[in-house]
Amino acid sequence: MKVLSVASEVFPLIKTGGLADVAGALPIALKPYGVETRTLIPGYPAVMKAIRDPVVCLEFTDLLGEQATVLEVEHGGISFLVLDAPAYYTRTGGPYVDAMGKDYPDNWRRFAALSLAGAEIAAGRLPGWQPDLVHAHDWQSALVPVYMRYYPTPELPSVLTIHNIAFQGQFGPSIFPGLRLPAHAFSVEGVEYYGDVGFLKGGLQTAHALTTVSPSYAEEILTPEFGMGLEGVIASRANSLHGIVNGIDDHIWNPATDAMIAQTYSAATLKDRAVNRERVIAHFGLDHDDGPIFCVVSRLTWQKGMDLLAGIASEIVHMGGKLAILGAGDAALEGALFAAAGRHRGRVGVSAGYNEPMSHIMQGGCDAIIIPSRFEPCGLTQLYGLRYGCLPIVARTGGLNDTIIDANHAALQAKVATGIQFSPVTAEGLLQAMRRAMHLFQDRKVWTQMQKQGMKSDVSWGRSAERYAALYSSLVSRGA
Ligand code: ADP
Ligand code: GLC
Repeated sequence: MKVLSVASEVFPLIKTGGLADVAGALPIALKPYGVETRTLIPGYPAVMKAIRDPVVCLEFTDLLGEQATVLEVEHGGISFLVLDAPAYYTRTGGPYVDAMGKDYPDNWRRFAALSLAGAEIAAGRLPGWQPDLVHAHDWQSALVPVYMRYYPTPELPSVLTIHNIAFQGQFGPSIFPGLRLPAHAFSVEGVEYYGDVGFLKGGLQTAHALTTVSPSYAEEILTPEFGMGLEGVIASRANSLHGIVNGIDDHIWNPATDAMIAQTYSAATLKDRAVNRERVIAHFGLDHDDGPIFCVVSRLTWQKGMDLLAGIASEIVHMGGKLAILGAGDAALEGALFAAAGRHRGRVGVSAGYNEPMSHIMQGGCDAIIIPSRFEPCGLTQLYGLRYGCLPIVARTGGLNDTIIDANHAALQAKVATGIQFSPVTAEGLLQAMRRAMHLFQDRKVWTQMQKQGMKSDVSWGRSAERYAALYSSLVSRGA
């Protein structure tokens, strides 16, 4: 089976969060199931710089008004189709925001162009390669099924995965003509959304199947609290919605072979984590003592509950804990965390920015990772934490709920606990969880047992890749 995947970020070429990890790992995990994926991605400067010997395979003279070419190239075991369109993607900031952190004003056009290119490839425009199915991810490629529906071309089956319903790609109605869709696409069945244009909304209406990245989140987005305005649309498509939990690329994230960490180790040699711990201590300027180091590797946003953590940093320090925080995002949250670091030198360390190697070292050396998210479609850092013996302390929501077994009395007795869950997701709830963590840490035998249990959990793509492959097959055999 041939699948065209369309995504706005894909590891190892370009990454701002978990979408990149998933869009990069899934094609590789699907290979054993006979799925051959090609991945269409924008040609941002970082992508153009990283690829070697690309081959031009398709040209657009007028892709929503701009010239573009599609380049074919292999990179990191993935077959990429890079949409080289300098007018859209040659910018000095990141994939979505400028150097000041502001959304590019023409994001609607940049990602409509990506989607349209995907729909053209789906329609057979790429010489010598006709996909059987298209898999789009998040709002940035959600117009692929829309263009497929409204363009007079043969329609292929399509899957749209919701990685985060908070990002919907909603724009004023004045952009509609620029999308070059027929007038009737501006309707309830199409992209119209409370009088605006909704990219994700249009994709949710037109894709043949919808998936999201955990079973719990699939249920949550049916409610107003988590559906963020789209719960009605989701409810109308509930029969086509599948919750499939993410896995991790266990070649990249393997403490026994990871070249980014200072010292590799396995469940049998946990004491070797001490070398990585030293690196964390040095990087974050922490004191040397036996108390636990709690870490955070995260976008600094309201979603991730970073304000809750900032609010109780002093209590964590008074309990004898240390905090190492790696993150980028909201300036106010960054400020609050730096203020905590200023108040507690040697106890709280903050490193602002994006640092892939340090994110591995922290999982390999810290005692626990704190993930106090208000909502979390899946979450990957708790899965990396499990694999690395860095105990996840997580809010009971979405994928965090589905992947971590709370250390309650019964789970500890049965030796199946892998972390700590807390609810409600408030400062008090988090503080309670931190007290439990401090208490558990006193009993090193129990703590080590939990680390080992986590390292044994199956966080690979195995079962989930099988579910995607089965979904693809059912759609292809049913025909669009
Ligand atoms: P989300 O996609 O919502 O940000 P996930 O947990 O799914 O959350 O994925 C986050 C990914 O980004 C993980 O691979 C994590 O290690 C990585 N990450 C987040 N912040 C940073 C950072 N500041 N430096 C390095 N890696 C980071
Ligand atoms: C989104 C979600 C995160 C998920 C990731 C990959 O960024 O916020 O929970 O793990 O996508 O699916």
